[in-house]
Amino acid sequence: MTPIGSALSLTPFNFILISMSQIAELTLDGKKYEFPIIEGSEQEKAIDISKLRDQTGYITIDSGYKNTGATKSAITFLDGEEGILNYRGYSIEDLAEKSSFLEVAYLLIYGELPTEKQFAEFEHEIRTHTLVNEDMRKIFEGFPVNAHPMGVLSSLVSAMSAFYPDANGQNSEEATQLHIIRLLAKLPTIATWSYKKSQGHPVNYPQNDLDYCSNFLNMMFSLPVAKYNVDPVVSAALNKLLILHADHEQNCSTSTVRLVGSSHANIFSSISSGISALWGPLHGGANQEVIEMLEAIKADGGDTQKYINMAKDKSSGFRLFGFGHRVYKNFDPRARIIKKAADDVLNKLGINDPVLEIAQKLEKAALEDEYFVQRKLYPNVDFYSGIIYRALGIPTNMFTVMFAIGRLPGWIAQWKEMRENKEPIGRPRQIYTGAPKRDFVLMSERK
Ligand code: CMC
Repeated sequence: MTPIGSALSLTPFNFILISMSQIAELTLDGKKYEFPIIEGSEQEKAIDISKLRDQTGYITIDSGYKNTGATKSAITFLDGEEGILNYRGYSIEDLAEKSSFLEVAYLLIYGELPTEKQFAEFEHEIRTHTLVNEDMRKIFEGFPVNAHPMGVLSSLVSAMSAFYPDANGQNSEEATQLHIIRLLAKLPTIATWSYKKSQGHPVNYPQNDLDYCSNFLNMMFSLPVAKYNVDPVVSAALNKLLILHADHEQNCSTSTVRLVGSSHANIFSSISSGISALWGPLHGGANQEVIEMLEAIKADGGDTQKYINMAKDKSSGFRLFGFGHRVYKNFDPRARIIKKAADDVLNKLGINDPVLEIAQKLEKAALEDEYFVQRKLYPNVDFYSGIIYRALGIPTNMFTVMFAIGRLPGWIAQWKEMRENKEPIGRPRQIYTGAPKRDFVLMSERK
C-alpha cells in the first residue's frame, strides 16, 4: 500500500517541562519527602508520585480517577473551567467550522494538519478499504434482529482481530498503518448493517466515489428500488458532529482503549473495548437516553419542572441525561456548537421537532436552578446531538454508534501514542478491605 506522505515519520510532540525548582513536599510520619512537579504545555500542573510507594510505602487512592493523571499526552487539551477544547493545539470551534472529519482524523492520528498531497493519499486509502470481508457478514447474520447496534459494533470490531491476525504481536509501522486505515474505512460500513437489518432491508455496499460522510449516509438510506441523493445539508451536519466527537483526552472509553492496549493487545481488540465502554449511559450512551427522556417528558405533558425535581431527588435514581460533566465545570464548548447546529439543521431541513422546544425549556429551567448551579451542571455534548441525528434520519438506537464513528480517530491516536511512547502496562493498585488472613474451614465443619 502507498505510505501516507511523511505522516509516519512524525514523532509525537512532548512539551512536558520538568523544573526541578518546583518540588512538592510531603511530610509523612514526621519524615519529609520531595516529589517533582510536572508542567504541561498549557501550564497545567501535576505532582509526579511514581516513586511515592518506593520511598514511603504509601499509595494514593482516587476512586474514579478524579484527580489522577494517567499519562502525558500531546493529542488533546481541555480546560474544564474555561470551556476550552483543542485538538493538537487547534480550537474545536475552528475545526468544526473550517475542517472536515477526515482531516481532523489525520490531525489527531499523525499530529499535524495534512498537506493536500498527504490528505489525498489518506482519503484514497480509506476509500479503497471500505469493503468488509463477506465472512464478517456471516457472523453478523447470526445476531438477532433486535440486537443493540452497539453490541454488534463492538463484537464485529473485535472479530476484525480474527480476520487480520497479523495485528497481534509486534507490528511494523506499515502494518499498523494498514490496520488504522482498515478501522477508519470499515467502521461506517459495519455500523450501517444493524440499521438495515432492523428495517428488514438488504445491506448496502460502500460506494468508493463518495466522500466519508456521504458514503455512510448512502449505505444507511439507499434502497435497491430507489436512488438516494445525499443532501449536502445532512452530510455537512454529520461532518460537524463527527469532528466534535473525535477526541476528548482521557475519558472512560479512551482510558479503556489505552489500558487494554497497554497489555499489547491488538488494535482491534483495544478499540472494541473502547466501544463497549462508550455504550454506558453515563458516557456515550447518554445521547440515546437524552432523546428517550425528552420523549418521555413530552408524552407526560411537557412538564419539565417535574423532571428537574426528580433529578434533584437522590432517592428517585433519576439523572438529567445530557447534563453534567466530569471535567467541564463552566460550559461544554461542544454543546454550544451543537445547540446552534441543531437550530440551523432543523431550519434548513424545515423540520419542527417538538422535543427541541422541550430540551430548550429543560436547559433554561436547570440553568436557573440552585441545585444545578451549585454543582456546576451544564448541558454536555449529548444534550442536543440526538436532536440533530434524529433530523438526519438516524434512529435513536444508532446514536451511540454515531458517537463511536466520531470517536474512532481519537481512540486510534491515543492507542498509537501509548504504544509509540512505550508506556508500561496499566495496572492500578488498591487498598484491600476484605477479611484479614484466616484459616480454611472444611465444608463438613462449617456451620
Ligand atoms: N442530574 C442530576 N444530578 C447530577 C447530574 C445529572 N445529570 N450529574 C451530576 N449530578 C450531581 C450528582 O448527584 C452529585 O451530587 P451530590 O454532590 O449532591 O452528590 C454531583 O452532581 C456531582 O456528580 P458526580 O456524579 O460526582 O459527577 P461525576 O463527575 O462523577 O459525573 C457524569 C459526571 C457525566 C457521569 C454525570 O454528570 C452524569 O451522570 N450525567 C448524566 C449522564 C451524561 O449526560 N453523560 C454524558 C457525559 S458527556 C459525554 C461523554 O463524554 O461521555
